[in-house]
Amino acid sequence: MSEIETLRADFLSKIKDINNKQDLDNIKTELFGKNGKITSLFKNIGKIEADKKKDFASNLNSLKNDLLSEINKISSELEIKEINSKLKNEKIDITLPVRNYVEGKIHPVSQVIDEISSIFSEIGFSVEEGPDVENEYNNFTALNTPDNHPARDMHDTFYLNNEKELLLRTHTSPVQIRTMIKDKPPFKIIAPGRTYRSDSDQTHAPMFHQVEGLHIDKNINMAHLKGCLNYFIKEFFEVKKIKMRFRPSHFPFTEPSAEVDIGYEIKDGKIIIGEGDKWLEILGCGMVHPNVLKNVKIDTKKFQGYAFGIGIDRLAMLKYGINDLRAFFECDYRWLNHFGFDPLDVPTNYRGLSR
Ligand code: DAH
Repeated sequence: MSEIETLRADFLSKIKDINNKQDLDNIKTELFGKNGKITSLFKNIGKIEADKKKDFASNLNSLKNDLLSEINKISSELEIKEINSKLKNEKIDITLPVRNYVEGKIHPVSQVIDEISSIFSEIGFSVEEGPDVENEYNNFTALNTPDNHPARDMHDTFYLNNEKELLLRTHTSPVQIRTMIKDKPPFKIIAPGRTYRSDSDQTHAPMFHQVEGLHIDKNINMAHLKGCLNYFIKEFFEVKKIKMRFRPSHFPFTEPSAEVDIGYEIKDGKIIIGEGDKWLEILGCGMVHPNVLKNVKIDTKKFQGYAFGIGIDRLAMLKYGINDLRAFFECDYRWLNHFGFDPLDVPTNYRGLSR
């Protein structure tokens, strides 16, 4: 048998037992490596007598092609085998209940944001977002709060440059502007998110959370606003009846404006929402000021609507009996373990919000 045929036979007998890639690679190196058997034969072609050279070279070439294609074929077969066995071994039975699941809790603020989104989505609101770093125009001017307006002083703004063009948004209201610029009416959105003011004590933190609401359509009036907030507060506190009052107030971006208080009482050291004769302020609201609508090119003869802004942290404190706002942001693992929520219990209206 010629040298070439011996190599072929030798190869065919070796690959019969191959069952892993490493062995296959070894065979490949043995033949095609720098000093491999086939490589050496190619190197020596020059020394072969002229009349045999052509046949030898052509036989050697076909040996090379045959063996390489065989090696590639086996290599991909082995790869598939490997993947299949991995899939088999690493298969997870997703029908099994989760056991030993302990680490990680959902922060009460995130929980409350999920609850709020769930409640408003039931009555047709969708969720919008805006950036924490806002421009002065969206945060104030477009919201009918011109340069010299006293409301600007109430906000203790963190400005980000000397020109006072960039700032950390002082409320979620600029998302109203972003939404109305981006699309055409009607609008029915909420926008939860972080807000910032230079303020810090037991009930104020420099970073806090609000949720903005905006409903613009034809023929929307204050009764819709009342109905919407009444529904929201009942759902949120999971009570059948709620005591609620609208107090006249002032915001530059609404006319008329109101602040909403809910009735509560303290029984055995616990706060009971919806009963009693004490009042607690929880949100600001009103009918969107025509100037705001004009700023975003909405025809005020056709469209109008209401807006509201709710302090999320305050709601979370009330609902879950947390009395110091600063604890929210201290990242104390023990606190989070106590007040946090199970990540698998996503709030939904039909199953209960705060299970
Ligand atoms: N942006 C106000 C604040 O931070 C809250 C607010 C009041 C939002 C009335 C509104 C509104 O959309 O209509 O104090």
